[in-house]
Amino acid sequence: MKVLVIHGPNLNLLGTREPGVYGQMTLDDIDAMLAEEATALGVELKTFQSNSEGELVTAIHDAVGWADTLVINPAAYTHTSVALSDAIAAAGIPTIEVHLSNVYAREAFRHHSFIAPVAVGQIAGFGPESYRLALHAAMRLKTES
Ligand code: DQA
Repeated sequence: MKVLVIHGPNLNLLGTREPGVYGQMTLDDIDAMLAEEATALGVELKTFQSNSEGELVTAIHDAVGWADTLVINPAAYTHTSVALSDAIAAAGIPTIEVHLSNVYAREAFRHHSFIAPVAVGQIAGFGPESYRLALHAAMRLKTES
């Protein structure tokens, strides 16, 4: 079971970025937590972060043939990116959308996701725990397929 976790723009700043919204954990802390969880679950895990839409698209393309499931926090591109949505649809890899914050309790522009229609499901609002829940959901997908 192979999972690629993709983090979108500005998530490299976690820890110092609006801690009241996104918490105190850094991206390295989150990736370390996920690595530990993946080991416990017997999941082979890769993580990737980019601030560039094109690099995120390429990471999705490159996951074809390797990843059984994608876990993606597209960050601000959630609300803007047809390119990411198209890449996920083209890759055909079951994809779980993740957000640290509850985007539906925030500004109206965060209520629309271009990713949700091409995702299996979405987990939002649990802080870093959203990613851990997504790993468990990925396991569930695998055992159901
Ligand atoms: C986010 C929510 C987005 O609206 C925002 O642009 C982010 C982070 C989250 O994880 O809560 O950068 O995806």
